[in-house]
Amino acid sequence: MRVLLVGSGGREHALALKLAEGPTPVELFAAPGSDALKALGTCLPLPADDLGGLQAWCRAERPDLVVVGPEAPLVAGLGDVLSDLGIPVFGHGAATARLEGSKDFAKAFMVRHGIPCAASVTVRDLAEGEALIRSWPHPYPVVLKADGLAAGKGVVLAPDEASALATLREFLAGAFGEASRTVVLEEALVGMELSQHVLVDATPGRSAYALLPACQDHKRIFEGDRGPNTGGMGAFGPIPFLGPEDLAVLERDLVAPTVRGLQADGLEGRGVLFLGVMWTVSGPKLLEYNVRFGDPETQVLMQLLDEDLAPLLLAVAEHRFEGRALHLRPGCAITVVLAAEDYPMGARKGVPIELGLPDCTVIHAGTRRAEGRWLTNGGRVLNLAARAPDRAEARARIEAGLPQIAWPGMQVRRDIGLRALEHLRAGRGVRDPW
Ligand code: AMP
Ligand code: GLY
Repeated sequence: MRVLLVGSGGREHALALKLAEGPTPVELFAAPGSDALKALGTCLPLPADDLGGLQAWCRAERPDLVVVGPEAPLVAGLGDVLSDLGIPVFGHGAATARLEGSKDFAKAFMVRHGIPCAASVTVRDLAEGEALIRSWPHPYPVVLKADGLAAGKGVVLAPDEASALATLREFLAGAFGEASRTVVLEEALVGMELSQHVLVDATPGRSAYALLPACQDHKRIFEGDRGPNTGGMGAFGPIPFLGPEDLAVLERDLVAPTVRGLQADGLEGRGVLFLGVMWTVSGPKLLEYNVRFGDPETQVLMQLLDEDLAPLLLAVAEHRFEGRALHLRPGCAITVVLAAEDYPMGARKGVPIELGLPDCTVIHAGTRRAEGRWLTNGGRVLNLAARAPDRAEARARIEAGLPQIAWPGMQVRRDIGLRALEHLRAGRGVRDPW
């Protein structure tokens, strides 16, 4: 099967490694891909946001399947442009991608379809927003969200009124361009956060979906969940204290109404939806939708999935998915991100990496090859991923692999999955304080 993978990061490398596992033979093309992806296929000199270039390549080459990694091309309509050519695309059209591309649209969708979520109000006018903050009825922090895509930096949890007002002014003045000229003010939810990925194949006439294992990301740069937010410093799954009855609640309250909502609104589902969930004392609530696989959650999910990936994604792309339970490997998977010096404020690029042979999967997120060696080339540089019968063993496998990789300024969190392990060992469940 000839597959075009759009993107270049760790998520795409993990997807490409899984596609290469087969059993279906895959001839892989990546746009733009990376030096690591060159080992698995042909990289095309086409950026992920070059809709015209990708359209022209697909018209000429007619791939059997296109898999779109990042959200920006989906929000811009890549899924529509390619499916209009009659090419199967695993990736939602622009109308559905608004669930990630506009927080206001997503919140209205949640409210319309009775999906539990934080109370919120959308603001475009400064005076109105300031008045709302001055009479904020919920406990602090106030959550301020830029409506549009802001490269993962558009959410601020303001601890007090003064900082909420300051953030509101910056956002409305265009801190993220048009993306922040509309702001969603939201009640802060307290609880345990998790990432729930769902394969969704939905048209107004039929629907099928399948849950992937729930994962947990670690967003802060430093151990103990301290320091600034990042794109994600590591993840693990499944979540050990999320039992079958908890997953049934998650499916009933959040997933099923989402799929029914898509159908009711005439929105096509043709890819993955990644639900950002906060499990509060009153049950799971939806924080946000993403219309693509998470990074680094994908690196965990691909370790756990026991499926022939190319035909599975093709079935969703062609609206033939049966909505069956997915085959999973037993045990737990963990991925740990190795990040560059200065990340997340910046990223020191071009630093030579010492890379040995760790006994776990090495995923390239932001590297480049020059003169026979790997160099840092992004904020998140490499990921180590491992699967083992239990969390402690998966963590130990990563720990054993870490000394095989080094560069000056490398940042790594050694506590990925640790809090969950302690929660489990203390006999606590998802309803207990996190
Ligand atoms: P995002 O950049 O949209 O992925 O959101 C960043 C993070 O902000 C989420 O992963 C949550 O940790 C946090 N967040 C978003 N909304 C809320 C909320 N209503 N209450 C508490 N935390 C939130
Ligand atoms: N790991 C969070 C995300 O992909 O948005």
